[in-house]
Parts: sequence; C-alpha cells; structure tokens
Amino acid sequence: MDWNPEQHYKNQTIAGEYDKKRFSSIAGRVFNYLEKRIITKCFGELPKDKIIVDVPCGTGRLAEILLEQGYKVHAIDISDEMLTIARQRLAKYSDHFTTEVGDAKQLDQHPVQYDAALCARVLMHFPLEQQIHFLRGVSSLSNGLVVINHSLNSRYQRFRRLIKKLLKHQASVNYPVTDEELNTLLSSAGLKEIKRYRMLPIISEAIYVVASKGVISDDNHHHEI
Ligand SMILES: C[S@@+](CC[C@H](N)C(=O)[O-])C[C@H]1O[C@@H](n2cnc3c(N)ncnc32)[C@H](O)[C@@H]1O
Repeated sequence: MDWNPEQHYKNQTIAGEYDKKRFSSIAGRVFNYLEKRIITKCFGELPKDKIIVDVPCGTGRLAEILLEQGYKVHAIDISDEMLTIARQRLAKYSDHFTTEVGDAKQLDQHPVQYDAALCARVLMHFPLEQQIHFLRGVSSLSNGLVVINHSLNSRYQRFRRLIKKLLKHQASVNYPVTDEELNTLLSSAGLKEIKRYRMLPIISEAIYVVASKGVISDDNHHHEI
C-alpha cells in the first residue's frame, strides 16, 4: 500500500522519533537551522502580538521559532501523537501555545480565524488536487498572510533526483511542483504570491512562499475576494 501521510504519524513511536530521525545528523541540523531562519524572515513583516495558526504543526519544530519571536501559535495536526510531542516540547510557552487535532481538508467550518498561517513540509506528500484541498483549508483560517513550504520540480532538480536515485540516496518526496503547478496551487487556494525564498538551491528543492489572501481561481477565472 502507498505511504499515507494522514495515517503515518498517528503512532507514538514514529512521533517520538520524528525530530531525532530527521534533524539530528549534521546535515539535518544545518537544514533545520536554515529553515528556521527563513521562516522567521517569511513572517518578518507581521507584528509580534499576532496569532499564527500552524497547520500541520507536527512536533512543534517551527512553532517553537515563532513562539520564541513572541507570536502566539495555534497548532493543528491530524495526529494527536505528534501534538503530544509538541505540547511537551513547548510546555514553557503554554500561555501562548494551543493545540487542536484536526484535518486540514475539513477546516472550512472552523469557528476561529487567525492573523496568519504556516503550512510546512506536507503539501509535497499529496497529488496536486489534494494539495489544493489542503491549502484551501489552511488559507480559510488566515485573515491575511499564508506562508507555505514546498519542493520545486525544475529541470535542474529532475537531474539532481536522477543522480540521487542512481546513488541510492534517500528517496525524494513524491509530489514536487513545477512553477506552473505552484501558481495553480496558490491561485486555487485564493492566494497571491508576495515573495519567495529558496534554501540551498544547488542541493535542495525546498522553496518557501509568502502569500496573501485575495484571489480565488476556478477554471482559470480569477475573482477578488
Ligand atoms: C512531516 S510532518 C511536518 C510537521 C511540521 N510542519 C514541520 O515542518 O516539522 C507532516 C505532518 O502533517 C500531518 N498531517 C498529514 N495530513 C494531515 C491533514 N490532512 N491535516 C492535518 N495534518 C496532517 C501529519 O500528522 C504530520 O504531523
């Protein structure tokens, strides 16, 4: 059966080992450090008294940097096991940090909206149609800013993937997006790109997009909202 990102993390052992497995090697630590720096830049214009919704929050890795900056964070994740780790890690921020188990694809009736949203390290695990569904849910919770992270599928990155495969390196994510697909994803979720950051573009597909709400696109018709 295919790997299912909605089920995989609903497991205590997997949740408990997530950070160690991904971010304890030297490369992992460098990546983690640089990613946190970019996330800080992405929210650079947002006043520090605002509330950011982090979907999916996972183990609270990126929520932590936002809390350190002074923001309040509301964490949503489909896995209570991942949120349990996040609550333990961020216990000292309990006044500023709240959690909720929820499916990003079912957020349209959510009773609360937030000042901004973060959606990191998840979209690339779904086919584009599901990415749109996911991001629409996240975007519906934000009053303005939405920051996403994705994996870019360019000619150079396709070449790099081939080399990685030949060298039997760690498997790449399943659904990176081309520039055109990224535009479709954003506009279908009612988002407009403001700016983007790349991290180590020679060795990483990672891209970070700062977007704002404003446009909904269906079948290539754009409407202001
Ligand atoms: C790779 S982790 C990333 C977590 C965090 N954003 C980070 O960068 O460390 C992916 C997370 O997505 C969550 N997830 C998967 N599908 C989801 C869905 N439909 N709604 C909410 N969370 C979901 C998983 O439970 C997991 O915690």
